[in-house]
Order: sequence, then structure tokens, then C-alpha cells
Amino acid sequence: MMDQAAQLRKLSARRNPGAAGGHPRRDKTRPARRVGSCRSIAVTSGKGGVGKSSISLFLAQSLARLTKRVLVFDADLGLANIHILMGVSPRYNLAHVVRGECALDDIVLDGPGGVRVAPGASGIEAMANLDSLGIESLVRELVTLEEGNDFLIVDIGAGIGQNALRLSAAADSALLVLTPEPTSLADAYATAKLLFAKGMRRIAVLVNMASSDAEGREIFDKFQTLVGNFLNRKLALAGILPFDKDIPRLVRSQRRYLAHKPKSTIAVRMNAYARALCGLPPAAPGNFFTRLFGPKAEE
Ligand SMILES: Nc1ncnc2c1ncn2[C@@H]1O[C@H](COP(=O)(O)OP(=O)(O)O)[C@@H](O)[C@H]1O
Ligand SMILES: [Mg+2]
Repeated sequence: MMDQAAQLRKLSARRNPGAAGGHPRRDKTRPARRVGSCRSIAVTSGKGGVGKSSISLFLAQSLARLTKRVLVFDADLGLANIHILMGVSPRYNLAHVVRGECALDDIVLDGPGGVRVAPGASGIEAMANLDSLGIESLVRELVTLEEGNDFLIVDIGAGIGQNALRLSAAADSALLVLTPEPTSLADAYATAKLLFAKGMRRIAVLVNMASSDAEGREIFDKFQTLVGNFLNRKLALAGILPFDKDIPRLVRSQRRYLAHKPKSTIAVRMNAYARALCGLPPAAPGNFFTRLFGPKAEE
């Protein structure tokens, strides 16, 4: 663990690149905006492999098409990281920033479709090694990422582990992805229950890989009934996306699915959901990173 003085020197060098010990950097931070005007959406699920990373990317690209400024924060420690889906190879991630080996701007990469990505997963665990001053300082920097964007899409790892839950709960809303697989509903219910218990205000549900709209609707209705009866909460339906065998193929060949199949049901519905999101009331006050790491985060 770095001693505190060294940590602060590195953090301060990052904030003031011209200062002694700092290094010049490309300023990719967009113009500062009113605090709280960036809407954070946690794309989450009860189980893995349901399409969270793909949907994070689609949603980000659909929002970017509407001229929204979008940053995807990759918070998934799993293997299929979103930068692979975006065809970018990050040299650094948040863990390097935490260790003082690069600036925060260095981890933000331009991806296809006007979307940017920040690989964050391993850094979140690494932040546990910083003391409270170090965390506070880094959070102030992370918040500038939000201030420069209209939407922060957080691609979350699967499951109801503490990390995944804490990350999801820090967002303004959750987009809960489920599939017609038999265990998906029970896993999604467990996730929704824990998220509501952590104070999540809004959960929208996206049924992915449905074999028909009727099947997707039936799954949503079942889920909504469960959540209504046992948790007394309401859910929104973000959309039903069909199974499309072209998704893995296009991803493997690094081609943008939405650009390649703009008239597909998936493209049309993701675009419609992005438009609906833009019409919702503004984000709650505060921001994702302060809620995630702020003084009250552990309560
Ligand atoms: N609607 C879909 N139809 C077909 N395959 C899909 C669909 N959505 C995702 N996939 C594929 O499912 C696999 C898992 O998707 P991924 O986005 O990595 O899920 P997660 O992030 O939840 O683990 C990938 O191979 C992806 O290409
Ligand atoms: Mg993923």
C-alpha cells in the first residue's frame, strides 16, 4: 500500500497535470455540467450471460444517436469485458489510476457509435487500499466524468454479490435483464428484492433472448406479479428483445450490431427505449460515484 503522502502527490499530480511530478495529458473531459444532471443506469441481472454487456453497449449507442453524451463504465470483473464488445483495447484501467500509474482521463476510450468506455472493474476493488483522503480525492475526479456526460451506463457483473449490489444501488435506476431461462426469473426476483431494500427507486425490466413477444410479455407479467405481491413495488417494462443469432457473430467480427442491422427489432426497440429515457424527469440529485464511495456508502 502506498503511503499517504505519496498517494496525495500522485492524486494531486493527476488533478494538476502541469504541477511538479505531473505529466501532460489529453483532456478528454467534456465541458463541466450541472451536478446531478447525468443520469446513471446500472445494467444488472441475477445471472450471467443474459446480455448485460451487449445491452449496455446497444443502449449507449442508441442514446449517442440522440446526440446524448454517454460513458459506459465497465464494472464487470467477468471475462467478456465490454471493451471487447466495443473493439477497443484499453492500456489502463481504474486500478492503474488508483495506484497512481496513469490519469483518470487515460482510461477513457472512444468506442464505436460515439460512445466512450472506462474500464473500471478491477479499480473498484483496488480502491479499498486507499485511505479516506485518497478515496475522496479520486471520487472528486470520477464525478467529473459524470459531469461531462448525459448518461452513465454501468455494466455490472452478474449476481447478487455485495459488489454488484452496491454498484447497482448507487445508480439512479436499474435496468434488470432477464431471459426465458427457467432460473432467470427467480434470480431476477432475488436481485430486485435486494435492490429495493437498498433504496433503489426505479427498476426497468428488459426481457432478452425471447423467442416471441408473447413469451417476453408473459415473463414480464409473471415477474411484475411476483414483485407486486411480495414486495409491493412496481416495475417498468423497458422492452422485449428477440433472440438473434447474428449478435454473437457480429460481436466476434467486431462489427456494430445496431449499425449493421438498423431495422432489426433489437435496434428499433433499443432506440425507442433510449428515446423514452430522454423523456423521463431529470436524474435524482447527487451522483453515482459519490453515492458509491461517499461517506454514507457503507450504511
Ligand atoms: N438477444 C440476443 N440474441 C442472441 N444472442 C445474444 C443476445 N443478447 C446477447 N447475446 C449473446 O449472449 C452472450 C452473453 O451476452 P453478454 O452481453 O456478454 O451477457 P452478460 O454481460 O450478461 O454476461 C454473448 O455471446 C452475446 O453475444
Ligand atoms: Mg458482461
